[in-house]
Amino acid sequence: MKFGRKIFILCLAVYILSLSVTSIVVTENTYRNLLNEEIERSLEEEGNLHSTLQLYLMSTQPLQERIALKDYSKNLVDLVSTDRNYLEIYDENLELLASNAPRAWFYERVELKVALEGHKNFIIRREDGRLYLFVSNLLEIGQEKIVLAMIREITHVEKHRWDQYLFFLKTGLVGLAVVALVTWQSSIFLLRPFQELTATAQSIASGNYHVRTKVKRKDEVGLLAEQFNLMAEEVERKIKQLEEQGQRQQLFIDNLTHELRTPLTSIIGYADFLLKAKYDPAVFHKSLLYIHAEGKRILNLAKKMMDLIFIRENPLQLKEEDVLAILVEVQHIMQVKGEEKGITIEVTGSPAQVPVDKELFKTALINLVDNAIKASSPGQKVILGVKQDNRGTEVFVADQGRGMDEEHVSKVTEPFYRVDQSRSRKEGGIGLGLALVKQIVEKHNAGFAITSKTGVGTTIQIKFGK
Ligand SMILES: Nc1ncnc2c1ncn2[C@@H]1O[C@H](COP(=O)(O)OP(=O)(O)O)[C@@H](O)[C@H]1O
Ligand SMILES: [Mg+2]
Repeated sequence: MKFGRKIFILCLAVYILSLSVTSIVVTENTYRNLLNEEIERSLEEEGNLHSTLQLYLMSTQPLQERIALKDYSKNLVDLVSTDRNYLEIYDENLELLASNAPRAWFYERVELKVALEGHKNFIIRREDGRLYLFVSNLLEIGQEKIVLAMIREITHVEKHRWDQYLFFLKTGLVGLAVVALVTWQSSIFLLRPFQELTATAQSIASGNYHVRTKVKRKDEVGLLAEQFNLMAEEVERKIKQLEEQGQRQQLFIDNLTHELRTPLTSIIGYADFLLKAKYDPAVFHKSLLYIHAEGKRILNLAKKMMDLIFIRENPLQLKEEDVLAILVEVQHIMQVKGEEKGITIEVTGSPAQVPVDKELFKTALINLVDNAIKASSPGQKVILGVKQDNRGTEVFVADQGRGMDEEHVSKVTEPFYRVDQSRSRKEGGIGLGLALVKQIVEKHNAGFAITSKTGVGTTIQIKFGK
C-alpha cells in the first residue's frame, strides 16, 4: 500500500473513532441528565401532589366506607388531572379506585406493592416504543391506606437521544468528507517532494549522475533533499574519478603495449634480417648494436615498471638524512654522463636534515638530473641545490636547457608522456621518469613543482614542509 494512502486511511480512522467516542459520550451523558431531570421532577411533583392530597383529605370528613373512598379518589383524580401526567389511585388491596390514564397497563405493578409497604419508588417501562415513568407512593389517611401512582410519558427524552445521534451522524458525515478532502490534498502536498526525490534517484541510478533534486523546503524533507544532493555530488565526483582512473589505466596499458611492441618489432626485424642476410661484418655489427640497444630499452622499461610497482606497494624507510650529501652522491653518479655531453653538474646550498628514504630519493634525483642533461647543450650547467627557510627545506634541480611550453609542464608527469617522442626515444627515454619521481615525492608527502620556459631552462623543486 502506498504511504499516502496509509496516511489517508489512518487519518480517517482516527477521525471516525474520535467522533464516535465523542458522540456516544456526549449523547449518553445528555440522555442520562435529561432522564434524571425527568425523574427528579416527577418525584417532586408527586411529593407536591402527595402533600396537597393529604391536606385536602384531612380537611374533609373521615373516610369510613369504600364507596366514599372511591368517590373521593375520583374527585382527587379530577382535581390533579393533566394531559401527560396520569394519576391512579389504589386501595390497600391494590384495587384501582380512580384513574385519569386513558388506558390500562397489562403488567405486574410491582412498584405498587413496594409503595404499599411504605417505600416511595419509581420504575421506567417501555411499551409500544414509548417510555413511561411510574412513581408510586403510599398515602395514609387515618386507618385508610391508598396508593398513589403517577405516570409520566418520557418518550421525548429518548427521542432527543436518537435525534442527537442523528445530528452527530449527519455532521460527522459532512466532517468526514471535509477531513477526507483535506487529508488527501495534504498527503499529496506532503509526499510530492518524496516523489521528486524518487524520480531523481531513479534518474541517477540509470546513469544521469549530474541530475539534482529541486526540492527546497525548510523542514526535514528539505534537509533530506539537501543531503541527497550532496550525496549525488559526491557520487558524481567519485564516478568521474573512477572513469578518469579507468581511462588513465587504459592509456597506461596502451602506452606500455606500444613501448614493448616497438623495440620487440625492431629486435625481431633485425634478427630476421640477420638470419636471411649474407654475412657482412659491418652490417652484422650495426644490426647487433640495434638489437642490443632495443633489448636494453625493454630492460629499462621493465626496471622502471618494477620501480613504480615497488614504490606503490612498499612503505618508505624514512630516516633523517643530509640531503646536501645525497645531492653530492648524485653529482658523482651522473658526472660521467654529463661530461660525455660537455655539461657540468654543480651542487649548491648547505647541509639540511630531512626524513627521506635515501635510495628512493636518490632514484628520483638521478631521473631529474638525467632529464636535465638530456635537455641541455654542451657548455651548459645543471645545478643541484638545497634551500632552507622558515617554511622548510627545498631540494631543486635546475638546468639551462631547452625547457618546455606551459601546456607540457602539467602533463610531463603522466606516464609515457614526452614532449618530443622521437628525441626521447633516441636518448633511450620511455617517458616513465617524471611519473616515477612524482610518485616518490608524493610518498614523502613533499611538494612537487616544475617551472620551465622554452629556450631558458627548467627548474624542478621538491619541497619538504615543516
Ligand atoms: N629538464 C627538462 N627540460 C626539458 N624537458 C624535460 C625536462 N625533464 C623532462 N622533460 C620532458 O618531459 C618528458 C618526460 O620526462 P620523463 O618522464 O623523465 O621521460 P623520458 O626522460 O623518458 O623522456 C621528457 O620526454 C621531456 O620532453
Ligand atoms: Mg627521464
